[in-house]
Amino acid sequence: MRLIILGGPGSGKGTQSQKLGEHFAIPWISTGDVLRAEIAADTQLGQEVAESLAKGELVSDNLMINFIKERLQQPDATNGWVLDGYPRTAFQAEELDFFLESFNTQVNYAVWLEVPAHSLIERSEYRAEIDDNPEALRRRIETLAETTIPMLEYYEYRQRLLRIDGNQPPDDVKRDILARLR
Ligand code: AP5
Repeated sequence: MRLIILGGPGSGKGTQSQKLGEHFAIPWISTGDVLRAEIAADTQLGQEVAESLAKGELVSDNLMINFIKERLQQPDATNGWVLDGYPRTAFQAEELDFFLESFNTQVNYAVWLEVPAHSLIERSEYRAEIDDNPEALRRRIETLAETTIPMLEYYEYRQRLLRIDGNQPPDDVKRDILARLR
């Protein structure tokens, strides 16, 4: 199973990725967690991306594409994976498909977690990540509308998009996702 979990900041991407990864016994890969760990460790990559995260901006497509290609070739990813936070732009989505085609495989489904903006803001109040300041959150919601929501058409056109009500308890969200996977 090769799944992509898409949604706004705090929509539950990380929560559902972990649940689905455990369910299918496959790794779940969070690009946001990887970037935050690089920043915490003060690596060169961390220094390069810190400003983008603090402002709620996306980091460069090339950086993310290179990371994901390398990560998906690790031995634990052979039988599937759940991606949390990648892709976020149509270019990232296309590049992922080109890469997977070279291995004769493809994304099974892109799951879009639908959560209203006011719920996203409420949920963020319980968190204290480096990129959870109000201005960054506002920018992340804008970026979602400008870049990530238009990308949904890419998966809709390929009949791989599952729209799921993310505004319900986490186990109910998981149940609804599993009910739609074939
Ligand atoms: P990322 O970490 O992906 O940030 P995000 O989209 O803002 O999402 P979060 O991780 O904050 O939330 P989530 O949707 O995973 O929700 P969670 O399960 O944690 O990315 C951070 C930054 O990295 C980006 O802004 C960008 O700069 C950069 N980046 C990352 N990937 C990139 C890419 N591909 N390209 C370019 N830049 C990239 O839950 C949130 C909270 O809600 C928790 O408290 C949880 O307990 C609660 N919750 C979860 N589910 C529910 C529910 N169903 N009901 C009630 N509460 C719930």
